[in-house]
Amino acid sequence: MEVIILDNKTDIGLAIAKEIIKDIKNNPKLNLGLATGSSPLPLYKSLIELSKLENISFKDITTFNLDEYCGLSNDNKESYHYFMNENLFKYLDFSNNSHYFPSIDNVNNYDEIINNHGGIDIQILGIGANGHIAFNEPNTPIDSVTHITNLANKTILDNSRFFSNIDEVPTKAITMGLSTILKAKKIYLIATGKNKAEAISIMLKGKYIKECPASALNLKKDNVYIYLDKDAASLISK
Ligand code: F6R
Repeated sequence: MEVIILDNKTDIGLAIAKEIIKDIKNNPKLNLGLATGSSPLPLYKSLIELSKLENISFKDITTFNLDEYCGLSNDNKESYHYFMNENLFKYLDFSNNSHYFPSIDNVNNYDEIINNHGGIDIQILGIGANGHIAFNEPNTPIDSVTHITNLANKTILDNSRFFSNIDEVPTKAITMGLSTILKAKKIYLIATGKNKAEAISIMLKGKYIKECPASALNLKKDNVYIYLDKDAASLISK
């Protein structure tokens, strides 16, 4: 696991976008695992800008999102389908049918769909203040595959900032499991802000602690890159 501390989220987004573009130049057909939420937004902005500047095509790229809420239609403004379209997909030349999301319909074979495409080459992750990755909440089994989960109260509270009131926040989601995520060939986790500092400090203790799902990344030896701003890195023990 490599930890990279940069000044701010814009620098983090740019740094990862450059790495992804380098990989796309080597393999224009790669499979991208994508996250929603505020953490990857600067990355998606840089990816759009750099791709236009360098004439990078996404027509042979396939994307696999980490998660989606249960009970929201795909055109609901808070759905992750809508988020991805508004913040990334509509700006690039992706082909039709190149985007996959876990859903009630494919929950039992999302992992198989990913495997049949050759696996995820690059996985982008955020981290919840409670240490979740995707919607693998504390104590999710390490061998979990894509599944339906109840969101933790802390997650519902954190996500209520996107809804007009807390009662509108879905309480269930479909998420890649921890074992799904660990199979990705390369992982970039982004964390910014003081509210992520505690989860980051636990994750960086170097071992897997089931109460902090992100610490499962310690079980993957290579190609895990943790990008932090100074606030998110503020509790890392020296
Ligand atoms: C979203 C996801 C979540 C978020 C996490 C952090 O697809 O999988 O695990 O990455 O909740 O969210 P932000 O970035 O909004 O702080």
